[in-house]
Amino acid sequence: MGILIHFLIPLLLANFCSGSTNIRCSVPSSWLSGNPTIQRSTSSSGHVPYVSGINFYNTYLWTKWPKGKVTYKLDATLTAADIIEVRKAFNEYHTKTCIQFLPWEQGDVDFVNIERNDSVCGVAHVCKIGGYQFAQFGGNCRTMSTMVHELGHSLCLGHEHQREDRDEHLTYSSCHQTPSKDTHNWVTKGIYDYRSIMHYWCDANNACLGGRPTQSNVNNCGGAVTTGLSVMDVDGINSLYNCQGCTRHRWRPAQSLTQADRENLYNFGYYSQNGAPLYPCRAASRGEVSAGTFDDATKSCKISHGQDLVTITDNVEVLTIPGSLNWFCYKYELVSRAAASPRTAIPAGSSNWDKWVGYIAYASKSGTGGVTERSIGKVWTWTHSSFGYSADMPAASGNFFPSEYQVLSCHLDSQCMSMFG
Ligand SMILES: *[C@@H]1O[C@H](CO)[C@@H](O)[C@H](O)[C@H]1NC(C)=O
Ligand SMILES: [Zn+2]
Repeated sequence: MGILIHFLIPLLLANFCSGSTNIRCSVPSSWLSGNPTIQRSTSSSGHVPYVSGINFYNTYLWTKWPKGKVTYKLDATLTAADIIEVRKAFNEYHTKTCIQFLPWEQGDVDFVNIERNDSVCGVAHVCKIGGYQFAQFGGNCRTMSTMVHELGHSLCLGHEHQREDRDEHLTYSSCHQTPSKDTHNWVTKGIYDYRSIMHYWCDANNACLGGRPTQSNVNNCGGAVTTGLSVMDVDGINSLYNCQGCTRHRWRPAQSLTQADRENLYNFGYYSQNGAPLYPCRAASRGEVSAGTFDDATKSCKISHGQDLVTITDNVEVLTIPGSLNWFCYKYELVSRAAASPRTAIPAGSSNWDKWVGYIAYASKSGTGGVTERSIGKVWTWTHSSFGYSADMPAASGNFFPSEYQVLSCHLDSQCMSMFG
């Protein structure tokens, strides 16, 4: 029995971490439980931001990187191939968030040393701890995906599958081990994100460290379905670090919209048939996180799944755009399908089946007697170049799938810029 267990543990872990031996995939538990040697008190006031679908450390106790600027050093243990993976991981943050990884310069005190350590799959200090800290990857885990995960820890992110409410989304029955639930320093809110890069894999054949999804149509989790940051990882980081520009939109909980949130709702001229302004919402439904039409009266999100019109009331989020639609020339607007690009479109959710990301589509349907029904729905794409697919739009008179629609987008308006000289 003893032999069996000793044989099984590294083997099962190896499946999760792609074949490395003697590996450890998590941060040490002492780093996750508010160990006083690395605990920092940044402020006694201020608020913990609502961060959708992501688990992160209470920012009273842990230090974020000021202005999202993370100083790094590349350790001599890294091979040229490792450095390529590390740079891909940096690029993932640089293209989707306001986080900047900046090379160490003379005089920089706090920095993340990026290291290779073949005794681990990946491990990193959580938040900025002061002075030297590391993010390590090793063995066959030396990939962009592992490094995006470890750098998530550097930025204060915790594990999604250790959220306090994870038992509503995962089962660990008949799993080899059950990771703890972190209840002490964690803030756990928002839509559960099976695709978060901070979620361990949920393969049926591995040690089951990421648990088994209980939501139907969710087949796997974390890096098994997302090589980089998930849509909700990006939203969470942009909220945690108060990112601006085209990363200033925030998905807010429908059940607790504040007056300030309401002032940041925009309907782009879209009204329901009884004159209520229409806003985008998103919710988990059928294994996906989908954009739909928000119904303020019932705080529900109406989502189209082919012919089925689904009304979700749990964990609905509504899109807010703080700072007006045109803020320092960073302009949110609707763009026609033909002119829209996934590079500038606002992502709302993702499919759990594959790499597809869902964006926010606006369209109108002419019904009987010349009545027009306006709708907000989703359009999926996996390419980075264009929107080639029909949108999936909810409508009381029957869902519709237009090839002509508009996509909510944001870009830096150069004409506006030129007015500032
Ligand atoms: C490599 O990882 C192992 C296991 O966590 C640790 O004991 C060792 O100190 C690490 N090596 C370095 C150089 O950090
Ligand atoms: Zn981790």
